[in-house]
Amino acid sequence: MNDLSRAIRDQRADLDRAWARVLDSSYVVMGPEHAAFEAELAALVGATHAVGVGSGTDALELMLRATMPLGREIVVTAANCGGYTTTAARRAGFTVRYVDIDAETHCVDPKALVDVLDDSVGVVVVTHLYGRAADVAAVRSVCEPLGIRVVEDCAQAIGARTPEGPVGSQAAAAAFSFYPTKNLGALGDGGAVTTSSDDIADKLRSLRQYGWSDKYRIGSDGGRNSRLDEVQASVLRVRMPLLAAQNETRRRIIQRYAEAATAPVRVLPATDAGHVGHLAVVVVDDRDRFRRHLDSHFVRSDVHYPVPDHAQTAFEGEYTGVSLPVTEAMAERIVSLPCFAEMTPDEVDRVCDALASY
Ligand SMILES: Cc1ncc(COP(=O)(O)O)c(C=O)c1O
Repeated sequence: MNDLSRAIRDQRADLDRAWARVLDSSYVVMGPEHAAFEAELAALVGATHAVGVGSGTDALELMLRATMPLGREIVVTAANCGGYTTTAARRAGFTVRYVDIDAETHCVDPKALVDVLDDSVGVVVVTHLYGRAADVAAVRSVCEPLGIRVVEDCAQAIGARTPEGPVGSQAAAAAFSFYPTKNLGALGDGGAVTTSSDDIADKLRSLRQYGWSDKYRIGSDGGRNSRLDEVQASVLRVRMPLLAAQNETRRRIIQRYAEAATAPVRVLPATDAGHVGHLAVVVVDDRDRFRRHLDSHFVRSDVHYPVPDHAQTAFEGEYTGVSLPVTEAMAERIVSLPCFAEMTPDEVDRVCDALASY
């Protein structure tokens, strides 16, 4: 599905120089690479602050802690996003409530939100899934009159734009993951939160270092140690200037798949800057048969994600009675095809041939 060695090989000289810079500086955490990366990320998404943390899941957890309004304790999210928000919210001690998705975009359905909101809901997470910028403005217009904060999960969509501007600056705060297979990936774990609120940024900077208000002085409860290290920050700085062109390449791969696919397979479109082609996802009724067909053409596939959050074994008994018809139907029909910027033309052709002959 992916071959990380190709980007490492192509970027090897720049990565060597970046790591040499880190070794020469002797800073290992919170040094000059980290500070420069935070500034560059904030500029990329059009937010005032970026706060580096240890992973995307940590970014979600600390963002939820920093944005949950006092006296509220429920986080609302779609259940088709891989469980990361659920894990983060539960770790922060919050209760999770699920909302159904839109069948076309696979992102949260703003119309379905009204049925799940009440005055214990504090935060709604909008996940820009598969690379598509979700309709944050529509979600905000439902939530904000009720005093509910909206935040974004941009782990799969760095560089995507909503009609109002780049993801990462469309709500109170936004979480990013730099897991190696992401469109902007590190060579290890990493994450960040962006925000244009000074208060939220201060809270995040405190929470990522033990809740400190000052060295050895704990000002915020719920803190932990979650830092983006200098080596990963230096890798991300090498890769960020390549992001726009790589997002365009990924989009083009998905467009090729859409042109090649026959009627039983619906390729979720990635036609403009509202999508950065993180995952090439198709919807097909007989998934097992389709995946066997791909196998016979030597094309790998995967499912993102096979089990919706409310149906995960760990939460058995907790969500009985929860019905999310679109989420549940799509979980049985989605398939992800290979999609990464270093795919060769032959590899893209092979996927297209498999799609055309199904
Ligand atoms: C939508 C989404 N949110 C959050 C995460 C969590 O990021 P991480 O793996 O860096 O913890 C991921 C990816 O792993 C993701 O795809």
